[in-house]
Amino acid sequence: MFVCRTTRVRVATGWRLKGCAFHGSKPYSDDAYYEQKEIRQRMKCITHFYNQSAIDHTINKPSVRLTPGAILYAGKNQDGTHILHEMYIRAFNILSEFPIIHNFEDDQNYCVTLRKLLDDHKDVVSLLAEGFCESRKHIKDDSLIKIFLDKTLTSRLGIRLLAEHHLAMHEEKANHVGIINVNYSPQKHIEKKAEFVRNVCLAKYGAAPNVRMNGHLNVTFPYIAPPLEYIMGEILKNSMRATVESHLDNLNHLPDIVITISNNDTDFVIRVSDRGGGIPVDLVQKVFDYSFTTSGTLTDDRVSGGLFGTITQSNFTGPAPGLMAGYGFGLPCSRAFAHYLGGNLTLESLQGIGTDVYLRLRHVDGKRESFRI
Ligand SMILES: Nc1ncnc2c1ncn2[C@@H]1O[C@H](COP(=O)(O)OP(=O)(O)OP(=O)(O)O)[C@@H](O)[C@H]1O
Ligand SMILES: [Mg+2]
Repeated sequence: MFVCRTTRVRVATGWRLKGCAFHGSKPYSDDAYYEQKEIRQRMKCITHFYNQSAIDHTINKPSVRLTPGAILYAGKNQDGTHILHEMYIRAFNILSEFPIIHNFEDDQNYCVTLRKLLDDHKDVVSLLAEGFCESRKHIKDDSLIKIFLDKTLTSRLGIRLLAEHHLAMHEEKANHVGIINVNYSPQKHIEKKAEFVRNVCLAKYGAAPNVRMNGHLNVTFPYIAPPLEYIMGEILKNSMRATVESHLDNLNHLPDIVITISNNDTDFVIRVSDRGGGIPVDLVQKVFDYSFTTSGTLTDDRVSGGLFGTITQSNFTGPAPGLMAGYGFGLPCSRAFAHYLGGNLTLESLQGIGTDVYLRLRHVDGKRESFRI
């Protein structure tokens, strides 16, 4: 280090001395020219030396192990605090330190606190998805990420369902026991969702396919609507996008998306069939990987809540431009939810023709044991 500094001082002095050769209009001699050249080369070497030593210095530092936990804690507020870490610790403290509820007033206060926390956390998944997409290139072990995200997303879903249930138990809503709709009509709710996604699609592309439904249309049973509607929204967005993008030269004659409902004592199946050209064989294995997307843009306005943020809000309707595709989270997240709900999400692609997505979910009051929140 000492040697370096001396060298720099010496060179700097030399530079100043030789610098006088540049003053005035008189051209400097050959000797001066070569001296200048030598000095420049020496300066270059020294710059390299300093840069190299900075690299060596960094190499000797302990490497940062990027783990899923690190991602969770990595998002930062503008004031430097870690968003997700802070939010979860804060929520835990608020709830665990909440005084024992003795009367109606205490319960009201607890409900206000719960609602506030639900609102505060509504963008967590978008933040997580965004952070994950940004740090994706540094992550070597995909399976670790999948385990982490599956677990984080489903436990978040469970917590939100519980909290929403507690709040809903305080409201009088026809056909509802808390968050369970005892008279759930898949046809009615899917139609509503399809209309919503059509509006999103229309706003984004200026065209959208129609949705037709068949099968057990009149069936009703008890179910928790929000997670099912979230999954249907993601499947429909994909199908509509594929349909539009594969018919860009004929937007006035888009093939319909056909939804079939099949119900039995144990579970029910919803099949979504589109004519959106299917998925190439070499990509079909990847579509359930977190952050795999062919949308080619991460500029969608997902951060402002989006469908992720409103995962347990059933009253989320109306057009919302720019949410058709983005993070490559739709399918993997939906499949994690389907597993959590005691079901499954699979996909069959007929390349060149279209895609069939099968969502199978277990009844909450069926013959077999249901899922555990
Ligand atoms: N019905 C479909 N037809 C054709 N390709 C599909 C279909 N469904 C999914 N895909 C392909 O799978 C990829 C991953 O889908 P996924 O829903 O996980 O992410 P995304 O739609 O790209 O983004 P996000 O859902 O997070 O907004 C899509 O980008 C698309 O290439
Ligand atoms: Mg999608």
